[in-house]
Amino acid sequence: MSGPLSLARPDLRDFVPYEAAAPDRELIRLHANESAWRHGWDDSVAGLNRYPDPRAERLTTRLAEIYGAPANELLVTRGSDDAIDVLARAFCVAGLDRVLVCPPTFGMYAISARLQGAGVIEVPLRGERGFAVDNNELVAAAAGAKIVFLCSPNNPTGNVIPADAIAEICDRLADKAVVVVDEAYAEFSEAPSAVELRPNHDNLVILRTLSKAYALAGARLGVLIAEPAVVRLLRAILPPYPLPSPCLEVAERLLAPEALEHAGREVSDAVARRRRLADSLAGLPCVSRVWPSQGNFVLARFRDADLAVKSCRARGVLLRDFSRKPGLEGCVRITVGDEDQNRLVLEILEQMK
Ligand SMILES: Cc1ncc(COP(=O)(O)O)c(C=O)c1O
Repeated sequence: MSGPLSLARPDLRDFVPYEAAAPDRELIRLHANESAWRHGWDDSVAGLNRYPDPRAERLTTRLAEIYGAPANELLVTRGSDDAIDVLARAFCVAGLDRVLVCPPTFGMYAISARLQGAGVIEVPLRGERGFAVDNNELVAAAAGAKIVFLCSPNNPTGNVIPADAIAEICDRLADKAVVVVDEAYAEFSEAPSAVELRPNHDNLVILRTLSKAYALAGARLGVLIAEPAVVRLLRAILPPYPLPSPCLEVAERLLAPEALEHAGREVSDAVARRRRLADSLAGLPCVSRVWPSQGNFVLARFRDADLAVKSCRARGVLLRDFSRKPGLEGCVRITVGDEDQNRLVLEILEQMK
């Protein structure tokens, strides 16, 4: 057996999932032990008394158009966090398999691996080279890893991994590891999405989310794009009705053309504000370095990170302190806010004693 399915847990390769009730709304539903009545205040389209569509078929078709991938390569999940978790569960045998992560990066890759009982191999990003991935080091260390997690743009450093580097990693790890590229912040970047590489790499998995650029973090909606066989395996592991119908209905509202256009304009504005925030931070005496970012945040090194975080907290502003993470000494991540919020944070940092 070859291909990415050969990397899945042997006990799950022909796993038979629970059979969810058919979603048909136009028929009389006496097959799912639902309640026959709905609340007077239930203003949902589907009715909260009914189980949601187990496959989120309509939403999946629309999202496939948006991300430029065939619908059978998409799995809608409860945010990317859920996708990361289900990947670890599908590919890692507890106590045996390992995943590879490139710190400093998003913490959930290692957490999901540990929850699954998988080991974690760390190949740190090269701080001296703008937090680039070292392909040779990564491929050498990936021997024995089932999943390689890459994050582009990377949280919290903000840099992207070039498409040719991702393609090379996928090639060199073909039939050895699944390469997951987490593109949670892709919309804020000018770099092309790894979705373009998918047709040529069956071990490539891409994660997108509606939490960032689409302002739906509260609805918990993520999208995993992978080989259809991988999508089928992961879907079999998810609970039978993973996505609540209010969340599906919210997502459908987002996908109306005007709502998408609005989100696109908001992203452009956030990118412009990110540039201004980064430039202003670089001019502050309390800041020693600002990294160029392709996300909706900026990473800066402070002469006294603790003081920066505490000064902002005292005025009601939360920042994310990374100063105790290896490679990020003195560093704080600041999310791009609206004009007033950015002005306030700059004012506080400027006045810092
Ligand atoms: C790189 C990265 N991936 C995934 C997530 C989680 O996204 P979601 O809200 O879709 O679970 C985050 C959240 O901050 C993130 O920074």
